[in-house]
Amino acid sequence: MTGTKDYKLWGGRFAEPNHELMERFNASLGFDRRLFEVDIAASKAHAAMLAEQGIIGREDAEAIISGLEQVRAEITAGDLELTDPSLEDIHTAVEARLQQLIGEAAGRLHTARSRNDQVATDLRLWVMAAGRELDQALLQYQRALVELAEKHLDTLMPAYTHLQPAQPTLLAHHLLAYYEMARRDRRRLADCLARAAVLPLGAAACTGTTYPIDQAAVAEQLGFTEVCANSLDAVSDRDFAAEYLFVLSLVQIHLSRLAEELIIWSSAEFGFVTPSDAFATGSSIMPQKKNPDAAELMRGKTGRVIGSLVGLLTVLKGLPLAYNKDLQEDKEPVFDAHDHVLDSLRVAAPMLEGLTVHADRMRASVAQGFLNATELADYLAAKGVPFRQAHEMAGRAVRLAEQQGVGLEQLELAQLQGISDQVEDDVYEALDPRTAVNRRTSAGGTSAAGVAKALKEARKRLWPPKK
Ligand code: ARG
Repeated sequence: MTGTKDYKLWGGRFAEPNHELMERFNASLGFDRRLFEVDIAASKAHAAMLAEQGIIGREDAEAIISGLEQVRAEITAGDLELTDPSLEDIHTAVEARLQQLIGEAAGRLHTARSRNDQVATDLRLWVMAAGRELDQALLQYQRALVELAEKHLDTLMPAYTHLQPAQPTLLAHHLLAYYEMARRDRRRLADCLARAAVLPLGAAACTGTTYPIDQAAVAEQLGFTEVCANSLDAVSDRDFAAEYLFVLSLVQIHLSRLAEELIIWSSAEFGFVTPSDAFATGSSIMPQKKNPDAAELMRGKTGRVIGSLVGLLTVLKGLPLAYNKDLQEDKEPVFDAHDHVLDSLRVAAPMLEGLTVHADRMRASVAQGFLNATELADYLAAKGVPFRQAHEMAGRAVRLAEQQGVGLEQLELAQLQGISDQVEDDVYEALDPRTAVNRRTSAGGTSAAGVAKALKEARKRLWPPKK
């Protein structure tokens, strides 16, 4: 292990050292060490630009760049101790080690920048990489949804409103609703990442720098598409982090809604699904139990993810321009939310894959609760009865069937004709749940043809043909 003790970036003005408590209170190294890769990448680009612009010597820049490469390798290998709070943060720790490795030249790296624009650059780079990782996880999750949906194009189930059985639908249609949420999540993410890709470096402490730097070159080198338009904003803007947290929150909320359904569906009362052993747990006291813990954790983690968003928003509220140390509190919520959402997505895909669907139970539920009452009303309306009256008549039919303990389709033709003389024997065809599903051909409707088309489009988007 290599140690770097007591390296300070700001010692000159101080006669006394920090109190030990202050040192610990002030330090962010314990968590911002996760920024080491992006911090070093940004420093390398900065050093190369400084040399290119003639601000520092070429040899110094070369020494800095190869030294930084070594620091990166040491941290990656776990050979560099990053725990000493006297090192304050990752920026200091990297520079301290660089100084040990290459000596005086290390002191030229910080020319024309400040930790204020440096940390803003680092966090943006981190979010940009994290966002790409999130997008991949969302893609895998979407694929799992679509693959499960493809197996259930024929599986009838009740659609619910108010959690009361409403109308027949297909399980594929239900699952594709979650696919659509994830599709919006990915578009929202792309939009957020485009706004994150603005380079703050060059804003320096807050008002810019006097050195003839080339920000466009650094931006290009690091994958930023724009350079900041206002230095005060550049060092204090954390919108990108808040937006990323909002994207993460909504992803987790969507997962949580799916999780909630799977939890309800796996109850004995519903019996629609059984989680695989790989994604369930048992009880230490009740031997019969198989609990849907994976789904429950997905639902539960939503609390901390939304908490992270609200936490950061609250840090930002009321901050005067430009940089304030409060902003050091921006990183942990972003890291934590990202980690837990990613874990959830990565669990969701195989959890869906391992799910046993009890199509018979779903089908049996469709036969209960008069899910075809709307069909009867529509049937009568099609025969010329005004819909209001048709609705009333269908309601009376439901009451009659309920009294007799049967479904609408089990009422005698004469009984149905007693409610409306418009009823003919083609009514039974109309009351069939398959008919109910397949007649819903409006855009986005549940007809088997419509759902098959949606599945095909999804497959094309998620598995684009290789060129
Ligand atoms: N650790 C600090 C942060 O995360 C780095 C920036 C420090 N800047 C300063 N002026 N003290 O915000």
